Amino acid sequence: VMKLAVLTSGGDSAGMNAVVRAVVKAGILKGCETYVVREGYEGLVRGNSDEAKPEKVAPHRDSSAYYGSFVHNLRFGDGELLRDGTSDHFAGRTLRGRYIVRVGWDDVRGWFAQGGTLIGTARSAAFRTIEGRLSAAQNLIKEGIDAIAVCGGDGSLTGADVFRAEWPKLVAELHKQGRITAEQVQRHGFLKIVGLVGSIDNDMSMTDMTIGAPTALHRICEAIDNIDSTAASHSRAFVVEVMGRNCGWLALMGSVSGGADYILLPERPPQTDSWEDEMCKLIHNHREAGKRKTIVIVAEGAHDANLKPIHADYVKDVLIDRLGLDTRVTTLGHTQRGGRPCAFDRILPTLQGVEAVDALLESTPETPSYMIGVHENKMTRIPLMEAVKMTHEVTEAIKVKDFDRAMALRGPEFRE
Ligand code: F6P
Repeated sequence: VMKLAVLTSGGDSAGMNAVVRAVVKAGILKGCETYVVREGYEGLVRGNSDEAKPEKVAPHRDSSAYYGSFVHNLRFGDGELLRDGTSDHFAGRTLRGRYIVRVGWDDVRGWFAQGGTLIGTARSAAFRTIEGRLSAAQNLIKEGIDAIAVCGGDGSLTGADVFRAEWPKLVAELHKQGRITAEQVQRHGFLKIVGLVGSIDNDMSMTDMTIGAPTALHRICEAIDNIDSTAASHSRAFVVEVMGRNCGWLALMGSVSGGADYILLPERPPQTDSWEDEMCKLIHNHREAGKRKTIVIVAEGAHDANLKPIHADYVKDVLIDRLGLDTRVTTLGHTQRGGRPCAFDRILPTLQGVEAVDALLESTPETPSYMIGVHENKMTRIPLMEAVKMTHEVTEAIKVKDFDRAMALRGPEFRE
């Protein structure tokens, strides 16, 4: 029986709970024992303290009174995911001291509709150290877990691949230190890993869409609709700053779906030194043609052709000084990241979660760590490190100002 754990890592994104639900349910249907790891890699490092007693709670049908809590009501297996009604990050009441938790079918019921990640995520400094990874390996072995599905961005998925590659070394070292038995060494010869890309930025290469990006884009689109009406009422200009780190996908697609007079992207900075003139001329023409509102979308990673950052406030000053427009800045911030997933951010993680379990079941020491992607509506398995490498190539291309290459590598939306 494959013992399968799922964890979420890095910045949260809508759809992460749907991943957990799909991996757990598909795992159970395919005969696996299923676990969740709370608080990302930090939970792996901390593991389950021997003093912490799993407190079983009675089957509980009414989850509505307990928003965001875990419900224990099993039809399959004997999960032990317990109620954790605390908002305190590491002080789960009944789960205190337990980070690797057995879960059953109904523990994850309805999770696809919840925002964020219910099992928590954390940036783990400990997992970056060899000591931390030794503890993580020991904790997994202690629970008998031999397969992990990780949902996170490129950094989190790279961490998973490193962990897998290092696994034999970690196991040998744990045995040398007397922390695991010879039998455990025998049973845990290799670790199965699969990655699912959870990121609102849609910044991973070799997949058409990352989990959480459609919801974030939907928020941007709605925000621009809302801003439009107030902007037109006052004949104002708005500079809207959107997230995306060093990727301009949200800004670009935000302008396609919400409309904008001018956009500033990291992959395609304005080509002239006097981009302000270009922007003002365009907006002036739009105003002359009778437009009562102006929207400029600025990606948070935007810069000029010399890589000098372009901030929303600067754009606002330009519009005020040169065009005399009454201008406001709206930074959408984390409203883009949180909240209920849109339908596609439930469908995609569900299909990918099922594919992830299959990839783990078929995994051998010879197969690479796979990232589950989507290409032209089909779920795909991509060697994880190839996708990560190509993603880094985009960042490199931007760094050396090869913007044509950056756009070509990003994907068709940027090329058109
Ligand atoms: O990668 C997701 C993201 O939301 C980026 O768009 C943004 O740059 C960053 O995370 C914000 O991170 P934090 O929530 O740690 O401020």
